[in-house]
Amino acid sequence: MSWWADAVGYEVYLRSFADSDGDGVGDFPGLTKRLDHLADLGIDAVWVTPFYPSPQRDFGYDVADYCDVDPAFGTLEQFDEFAARAHELGLKVVIDIVPNHSSSEHPWFRSALEGKDSPHRDHYVWRDPAPDGGPPNNWLAIFGGPAWTLDEASGQYYMHLFLPEQPDLNWASPAVHRAFEQVLEFWMARGVDGFRIDVAHSLCEDRSFADNPPKPGIGREPEDFGDLLHVHDIDQPETIEVYRSWRRLVADRDVLLIGEVYVDPAPAMDKYVDDALHLTFFFGLNPLEWDPVTFASTLREATESLPDGWGWIQGSHDEHRAVTRFGGGPEGVERSLALWAALFGLPGMPFLFQGEELGLENGVVAPEHVLDPVGKRIPEDGRDPCRTPMPWEPGAGHGFSSGEPWLISETRTDNETASVQAGDPESPLSRTRALLDARRSTAGRRGGPVDWLDAPEGVVAYRRGEVAHVANLTDGVVTVALPGPWDVAHATGEAVLVGDRLELGARTGAILGVVA
Ligand code: NOJ
Repeated sequence: MSWWADAVGYEVYLRSFADSDGDGVGDFPGLTKRLDHLADLGIDAVWVTPFYPSPQRDFGYDVADYCDVDPAFGTLEQFDEFAARAHELGLKVVIDIVPNHSSSEHPWFRSALEGKDSPHRDHYVWRDPAPDGGPPNNWLAIFGGPAWTLDEASGQYYMHLFLPEQPDLNWASPAVHRAFEQVLEFWMARGVDGFRIDVAHSLCEDRSFADNPPKPGIGREPEDFGDLLHVHDIDQPETIEVYRSWRRLVADRDVLLIGEVYVDPAPAMDKYVDDALHLTFFFGLNPLEWDPVTFASTLREATESLPDGWGWIQGSHDEHRAVTRFGGGPEGVERSLALWAALFGLPGMPFLFQGEELGLENGVVAPEHVLDPVGKRIPEDGRDPCRTPMPWEPGAGHGFSSGEPWLISETRTDNETASVQAGDPESPLSRTRALLDARRSTAGRRGGPVDWLDAPEGVVAYRRGEVAHVANLTDGVVTVALPGPWDVAHATGEAVLVGDRLELGARTGAILGVVA
């Protein structure tokens, strides 16, 4: 059985996790020191966001060297110390890999800019201008503007799905394939247990480089990425071939390939898994307003569309925090816990994002302190609020850093810190830990296909083997009939079992085991 078959992951946004040297940026020694928090929480794997040398235009998702550590985050030796300590604590190490684009500061791109004869020219996607001298086609960048920037020296445009400082790599070039195989080998030799693949659906382009059709009914010239149907720029069959070859590369090494894949509709996802990636994240809940009925039905449809499961998340370094999206306050925390109870038994691998175990809501970043390139363009979409520093303990800087944090935000309260919450059995931290404990204690008995149970609307209820997960996402008390004798292993709120009827309080999830 693969290590991720019944594992829970935890995303560490390294810049904001723990700073050891007072420069205001989280780093590997800081993370290593705080690994006990993750081991105590009861997770199984740590996914670390990009830590490579980078000009940080997109906070690490612009990589200038795929086989080193940015000095702001530490050294390769400190990476090794982190991985060794994680392994000692029984935690797997998953690292972020960014194959769609590099930084414009990467030596490959700097060489490519030297001209059409550069040995690295073909590492990137170059096209001649359109007859009018403008961009070669109508493709748009996710971070705004055209997906093409003119290199005046050569008179050609290069493609970038994100910032101009993030040129897209050319996956039609065999040299790029070879280079990334070496990158994967480099990190596997250092002991990593998995790769989270950034924008995994977008490596290859349709070689026709034809215009994308406008989305029907937008009623204006396409201006934003969302205004186009992405027929030619992303989600090409050749991309899946890349992952098939990576899958062969990691075969027999028990190394996870989990992709950040955005394709619409979700069933189109199945081609990315099976003999290609092991898992892809499920993002279907993220754009939804909290709504128990839609959440419950969306989870069921997602599970039915990919029965081997998903990487389940409530949030990430790219989303507003889950508790905020779920309405905030104690109710937001209860909804998040109930949702975890629903997600924790489904096939696949749940990933908590740092601070979700503390029930954190969005951090507050004043307009003059906004740093995220997305937030600078469209304030309401900004990603800074979920990226503010982890609050560890009362006192200056809340234990994150002795210096000024890289991202300035309003101070959190002491009750939001990990150390205060550890001493309070009713805190989000204690409640998340208790739920994870119950998940682990029932692990050996949970398995096989998901057997959905009859339940009122807004309630997720299923059985897998000898374990049932029932989550009442609604704001009222519900009763669910559960044929057979059960024990409640754990509930996030009020749960009363009378005969074969389970009464669950508002916003409460429960894990139950068949009575032996
Ligand atoms: C997805 C990452 O999660 C996000 O933070 C980043 O900006 C883009 N990919 C571009 O790499």
